[in-house]
Amino acid sequence: MTDAVDLSYGATFEHGFPHDFFRKLRDEQPLYWHAPTQYCPDGEGFWVISRYEDCVRVMRDPATFSSDKVSPRTGGGTTLLDEPYAGMAMNNADDPQHRRLRGLVSQGFTPRAIADMETDLRRRAKAILHAIPDPANCEFVTEVARELPLQAICSILGVPEEDRVQLSEWIDHGLMEQSDGVISREYLHLIRDYGRKLIEQKRQKPVNDIMSGIIHARSDDPNEKPLTPLELINFFLLLFPAGAETTRSALSGAMLALIENPDQMAKLRAHPELMPPAVEEIVRWTTPSIYKRRTATSDTEIAGGKIKAGEKLSYWEISANRDERVFRDPFKFDISRDPNPHVGFGTGIHICLGIALARMEIKIMMEEILARFGQFEIQSQPLWMPNNRLLGVRELKLRIS
Ligand code: HEM
Repeated sequence: MTDAVDLSYGATFEHGFPHDFFRKLRDEQPLYWHAPTQYCPDGEGFWVISRYEDCVRVMRDPATFSSDKVSPRTGGGTTLLDEPYAGMAMNNADDPQHRRLRGLVSQGFTPRAIADMETDLRRRAKAILHAIPDPANCEFVTEVARELPLQAICSILGVPEEDRVQLSEWIDHGLMEQSDGVISREYLHLIRDYGRKLIEQKRQKPVNDIMSGIIHARSDDPNEKPLTPLELINFFLLLFPAGAETTRSALSGAMLALIENPDQMAKLRAHPELMPPAVEEIVRWTTPSIYKRRTATSDTEIAGGKIKAGEKLSYWEISANRDERVFRDPFKFDISRDPNPHVGFGTGIHICLGIALARMEIKIMMEEILARFGQFEIQSQPLWMPNNRLLGVRELKLRIS
């Protein structure tokens, strides 16, 4: 392919996703070798998988496509960088370790536990909108979109109200605003130390919150070990990028899509019962978590080609979610799309743990925004995050009334 796009370079994404390039890949090279570039961590090339059917196959075959380290590598994980900490949190572990970690923490994510958060989240959403300093000059990402997801994670983790501002500042500096994908160690240490203390307090004196439940979770199987302090802290750290950054991007992308498609905004206002399919379309349309990496555990065939054991491959959920072979008119934002089998939350054993929460946050915030405001106008060209891992608008200046 002559007009190759560098997918390893964050700035490639600073004007949004290179959809044309991926359409070509889906049509002409569904298994594409991305040669190493100066931005490729570890100086290594990787495969690119772009069609829906092939992405789903990778996600549903974790025995062949590992999220952990694959010997002789000393690192692994789900981003292009060979992460030495792979295997220590559920998103970058394979079964049986993944099953054990997920089984223990998911005791806190039951539909009941999430449903119980609804009243509180709605109150918070109203307060966030009420607190917009000047709706005629609103920077939607920082003043609205990032707030509810952060507050929701803090509620789950049982972070006391008085610590939340401090913690969210550290997270902004340390985890969320690292556009080059490099996490600031200084802030990471502050967040980790904070998490350690919080976990210790709840270990000694459990209170009625989800994190206390997770800390004291036990498996039904007596041979299965409870979560270690290190596993707990890794879970604490995972939830911020996994849950807060993604949902923030979904909300700001939703606002942008509704403003750019006034017919869909009008339809949603006229038919509030369309909110559940609208939420699914928002996740398909924005696909905030755009690609994942896996490592092949054995020689295998996929997408009409061959991959060797030990090679890195990437599959692009955002491309799967625009695959013309599966979605009718995939470049149309259609809040009543049916069917909508998008893979924005993944599929298979690693399917998003926070699905119910993410859906509820998007629903509540969009309902409250539409109830409170009638007019939305974009004031300047939206800015995108220069990041190939998490796609999203980082600045959206609006005049709302
Ligand atoms: C719109 C918002 C969200 C999107 C698009 C999203 C997307 C995803 C995707 C694609 C995966 C699969 C990762 C993989 O296969 O390697 C995933 C996993 C995960 N998500 Fe989400 N997520 C969202 C919100 C949340 C929230 C709110 C939480 C928690 C509060 C959360 C927690 C997690 C966790 C813990 C995993 C790892 C699950 C596992 O490996 O078994 N996510 N998410």
